[in-house]
Amino acid sequence: MSTATLSNQSRSDLMRKIKDEIMNLTESPLYAERVRNHVFPVIGEGSHDAQIMFVGEAPGKNEAATGRPFCGASGRVLDELLASIHLPRTAVYVTNIVKDRPAQNRDPFPEEIAIYGPFLDRQIDIIQPKVIATLGRFSMAYVMNRYGLAPQLGQISALHGRIFETKTSFGSMKVVPLFHPAVAIYNIHTKEVLMEDFKTLKEVCG
Ligand code: URA
Repeated sequence: MSTATLSNQSRSDLMRKIKDEIMNLTESPLYAERVRNHVFPVIGEGSHDAQIMFVGEAPGKNEAATGRPFCGASGRVLDELLASIHLPRTAVYVTNIVKDRPAQNRDPFPEEIAIYGPFLDRQIDIIQPKVIATLGRFSMAYVMNRYGLAPQLGQISALHGRIFETKTSFGSMKVVPLFHPAVAIYNIHTKEVLMEDFKTLKEVCG
């Protein structure tokens, strides 16, 4: 992918190609389950020229039923956090590493991350965000490894809310690890931490 800024048309075309490829991803171990359960892959949603991208882990039940990321209980927390910094969801791009639902919301397997990760890489190259906010430890590890931040990786409890600067083929980018919103559903302390970390995100976005 060139470092040139893409036109809106090219961005949409490239995103559609990703969607088509994922729709037909028969080599994924999660594909058969998708077909058997009559559910959808979750590609991503939002602005294709967003300054900020949110990257979660994998779709849950509601997401697979609708094909939309973060539309269940975790999504309500994410919406609340976005509202707290007056950032409309339409202005950001929200996606996951793994695009199909792992059964019973189990953690994604490394081989699933290996299959779906390259689609996320392409989405990042298309959107060329200034900031990636990772939601949870899997996307934190994936994005930090991918962008040369492996030496700084650690526990999410130590890294959340911190700003990591990196270089990409399309320019400099910041990575801000955040707790997964699902943790905040039943844990008020995590919710408060997320609220504070979103204030940092607001400052980073300018
Ligand atoms: N959890 C995720 O990581 N992603 C979603 O889209 C929903 C829940």
